[in-house]
Amino acid sequence: MRVATWLLAFAAAVVASSPSTAGIEALVHRRLPQHVHSFEFSIANASSAGSSDAYTVSTAHGGKVKVEGNSLSALATGLHRYLTDVAHVDLYWYIGNRLDLASDPLPHLSAPLTGSSIVPYRYHFNTVTTSYTSAFWTWEDWELQLDWMALRGINLPLAWIGVEKIFVEVFQEIGLTDDEILDFLSGPPFEAWNHLGNIQGSWNGSLPLSWVDSQFELQKKIVKRMVDLGMTPILPAFPGFVPRAISRVFPEANVVNGSTWEKFPTQWTNDTFMDPLDPRFTQLQKSFISKQTAAYGNVTQFYTLDQFNENNPFSGDADYLRNVSRGNWDALKAADPSAIWVMQGWLFASNTEFWTNDRIEAYLGGVPVDSDMLILDLVSESQPQWQRTNSYYGKPWIWCELHGYGGNMGFYGQVMNITANPIAALHNSSSLVGFGLSMEGQEGNEVVYDLLLDQAWSETPIETDSYFRNWVTARYAGSQSIPDNVYLAWDTLRSTVYNNTNLTSNAVSKSILELVPSTTGLLNRTGHHPTTINYNPDDMLRAWDLFYGAAFQEPSLWANPAYDYDLVDMSRQVLANAFNPLYQDLISAYNTTTTRSTGSHRALKIRATGKKLINLLWALDNVLQTNPHFRLSTWTSAARASAAGQENLEAFFEYEARNQITLWGPTGQISDYASKSWSGLVSSYYIPRWERFINYLAKTGPADYDQADFNAELLEWELGWQNDTSAGVSLVSDAIHIQDVLPKVIQDWEDIFSLSCTNI
Ligand SMILES: *[C@@H]1O[C@H](CO)[C@@H](O)[C@H](O)[C@H]1NC(C)=O
Ligand SMILES: *[C@@H]1O[C@H](CO)[C@@H](O)[C@H](O)[C@H]1NC(C)=O
Ligand SMILES: *[C@@H]1O[C@H](CO)[C@@H](O)[C@H](O)[C@H]1NC(C)=O
Ligand SMILES: *[C@@H]1O[C@H](CO)[C@@H](O)[C@H](O)[C@H]1NC(C)=O
Ligand SMILES: *[C@@H]1O[C@H](CO)[C@@H](O)[C@H](O)[C@H]1NC(C)=O
Ligand SMILES: *[C@@H]1O[C@H](CO)[C@@H](O)[C@H](O)[C@H]1NC(C)=O
Ligand SMILES: *[C@@H]1O[C@H](CO)[C@@H](O)[C@H](O)[C@H]1NC(C)=O
Ligand SMILES: *[C@@H]1O[C@H](CO)[C@@H](O)[C@H](O)[C@H]1NC(C)=O
Ligand SMILES: *[C@@H]1O[C@H](CO)[C@@H](O)[C@H](O)[C@H]1NC(C)=O
Ligand SMILES: *[C@@H]1O[C@H](CO)[C@@H](O)[C@H](O)[C@H]1NC(C)=O
Ligand SMILES: *[C@@H]1O[C@H](CO)[C@@H](O)[C@H](O)[C@H]1NC(C)=O
Ligand SMILES: *[C@@H]1O[C@H](CO)[C@@H](O)[C@H](O)[C@H]1NC(C)=O
Repeated sequence: MRVATWLLAFAAAVVASSPSTAGIEALVHRRLPQHVHSFEFSIANASSAGSSDAYTVSTAHGGKVKVEGNSLSALATGLHRYLTDVAHVDLYWYIGNRLDLASDPLPHLSAPLTGSSIVPYRYHFNTVTTSYTSAFWTWEDWELQLDWMALRGINLPLAWIGVEKIFVEVFQEIGLTDDEILDFLSGPPFEAWNHLGNIQGSWNGSLPLSWVDSQFELQKKIVKRMVDLGMTPILPAFPGFVPRAISRVFPEANVVNGSTWEKFPTQWTNDTFMDPLDPRFTQLQKSFISKQTAAYGNVTQFYTLDQFNENNPFSGDADYLRNVSRGNWDALKAADPSAIWVMQGWLFASNTEFWTNDRIEAYLGGVPVDSDMLILDLVSESQPQWQRTNSYYGKPWIWCELHGYGGNMGFYGQVMNITANPIAALHNSSSLVGFGLSMEGQEGNEVVYDLLLDQAWSETPIETDSYFRNWVTARYAGSQSIPDNVYLAWDTLRSTVYNNTNLTSNAVSKSILELVPSTTGLLNRTGHHPTTINYNPDDMLRAWDLFYGAAFQEPSLWANPAYDYDLVDMSRQVLANAFNPLYQDLISAYNTTTTRSTGSHRALKIRATGKKLINLLWALDNVLQTNPHFRLSTWTSAARASAAGQENLEAFFEYEARNQITLWGPTGQISDYASKSWSGLVSSYYIPRWERFINYLAKTGPADYDQADFNAELLEWELGWQNDTSAGVSLVSDAIHIQDVLPKVIQDWEDIFSLSCTNI
């Protein structure tokens, strides 16, 4: 069996002993305090790292729910299976804990539930999730996240938080000054690209050591909790990126400057990289790993290390590439003889021109022991690389669902690719050892994340119709009943919106309302940030209609936070889809009125069409405002709170938070990459942009249309917005409910909501 072989290959040294179940019991205490005595957990036949996990859940004498398994992750998964499939409750991002709604007494099981994982590893996170999603998280946010992960069977997560502390200490040790070090590090919503060697430093501010310390304290809790919940953290390793001033302390060191990333000025990119063959590289790696082990304990053998993520090697020579990875491996092994090097395989998908098969084979071949590496096939559902690389030339790898870029917010999924494909891969690749999630930002669409994680416990592709049905039953726990129309709504989404099979557009879609206005190039974008709508928009509307109508049949849904969140999200998508035809009306008014109308007549026509589009954006903002998870202020106030009362730092963090979701760079280097449909952002950023555009069209005939001119003026305004701490965050009342807002929106936009079968 694959699992067994792999186990022998690289975890044989780890002697399995029964870990304490206290971490799982503590989870029950946190999330179902009234049932703290209703469960009994035990580990039998403890498995070693790298083998399959198995659980059995049954009702014991006295009515207790008995959860047995061969690992902590097996216990957590068995517990989750019972809670979702039998008690019909769960815990979610945004919505939070709903497990405490489980009935009392807990339901009995007439027959035991059993499950076993078909892969030893369930992986979570992308290196950039640290910046898109958790940049400003508190410990409470992390607690929810870690419980979410444990219950869903994740046992191998990335753990990047607090790494700045280790970098600082390593660099101080070799004589770099604090200023030289802090000039190199990047702030929270950008730190991930510093970790990847794409950028260095911060524009418009700098990170203080106090923040570095606070994140380090946070990481100690995170790592401990991961271990308590049966997860093996993948900790960072020294990747070789160093402050420019390295040449002052190591004049002889073999360093090169990396490539420019996304047209950033050299000051903030071209990171200096120390050659892994330089003996000082090993010195720094040993220093890094030993400081980290001293801080968190000996908790892992997995180290994440990426050097060429959107950053091309100094040379494409096969010998050079083989030497570099050999150098990495030697240094890692010198620091920890049990080390396994984990690498994101994104580079192989994103730069196929550089990464030819020969180069990949050379680079991976530099590591002489296959089991000392673990490759994340980062976009397996859309751009898998494992076939062309013959399963990474024998290195173990994980099948990952990337799903979305930059935390963009469209409804999206590939239910077939994330069920059938990983199973097919398992049959066709003997070095596949895990399934996992590698989304850039965690966003909505939780159902398609759950689906892949559950697929890790099913030998055949999951039947999505019953899966969605079960999922919906747990999702709306707490309402008196769940009307059929709620199931029908989700089933409609399942077979349309969540069933993309045209991979020309292959990730979460972006609405054009979030893009810099233009007469061309907005609609029908394909690829990673598609603006295509890969389904009939009437299907989205039909699902919305069924879903909204359900609360009139079952009014207890109005008070259900999952229903609230989903209704806001579905309404958002319907309005976003409706933006496209209004935009097309505007452009055709512009194009067709010009030839035969006077300037002022044309301007009137454009303003009238434009007004409608602006009004739609206001309606969208009003809808989004009703839920804190769709508000700009939630993001900016988390940023300020993370600065813990230091005034200058508050301003800097808020600036960075605003910058990431808009200009993404000092002057718009990757503008709108991480755009969001958030209340406040729509009203204070997107609406003014479209207003300026409408004014521009009204003033400028098509013959004089100049996009570059328009963009340059717009950029001036966008730069001002970055520091406007009042923009889009005026106090909104939590008392305004989606239920109060939707009727007026529907009335004002009868043509959009024409399908509505609801009796308001
Ligand atoms: C533990 O392993 C033994 C021997 O293989 C088996 O008989 C027993 O049923 C296992 N226990 C559990 C709880 O799986
Ligand atoms: C890297 O770039 C810096 C800043 O432009 C320059 O001073 C330095 O000489 C470069 N280093 C190498 C090794 O090219
Ligand atoms: C930065 O990288 C680019 C290639 O992407 C290169 O042309 C340029 O010389 C580099 N600059 C420095 C200072 O190394
Ligand atoms: C790779 O390493 C070998 C052995 O140390 C050395 O002989 C060779 O010159 C190196 N090649 C390159 C391109 O760095
Ligand atoms: C942790 O302990 C294992 C087993 O003794 C050992 O192989 C490994 O090198 C240790 N890791 C570190 C970082 O010291
Ligand atoms: C995804 O699924 C579609 C439909 O079954 C299939 O045509 C396509 O090849 C799959 N894509 C990948 C990358 O496997
Ligand atoms: C998804 O779409 C494909 C191709 O269009 C179709 O064959 C399949 O039945 C659909 N799957 C679901 C779950 O609706
Ligand atoms: C897939 O999408 C692309 C881009 O939207 C479109 O041009 C193409 O016709 C679609 N293919 C199919 C089979 O629908
Ligand atoms: C976008 O695609 C739609 C549907 O295929 C088509 O009707 C429309 O003309 C396209 N628009 C542009 C601007 O390419
Ligand atoms: C409208 O006019 C612009 C600028 O002249 C042109 O590029 C574009 O293709 C036209 N669009 C439509 C929908 O006619
Ligand atoms: C914007 O805010 C940043 C961070 O507080 C600050 O460094 C910068 O000088 C401000 N810029 C302007 C134009 O006010
Ligand atoms: C941030 O820094 C860049 C580059 O120095 C500058 O162009 C921009 O105006 C600054 N932005 C703010 C809001 O201060």
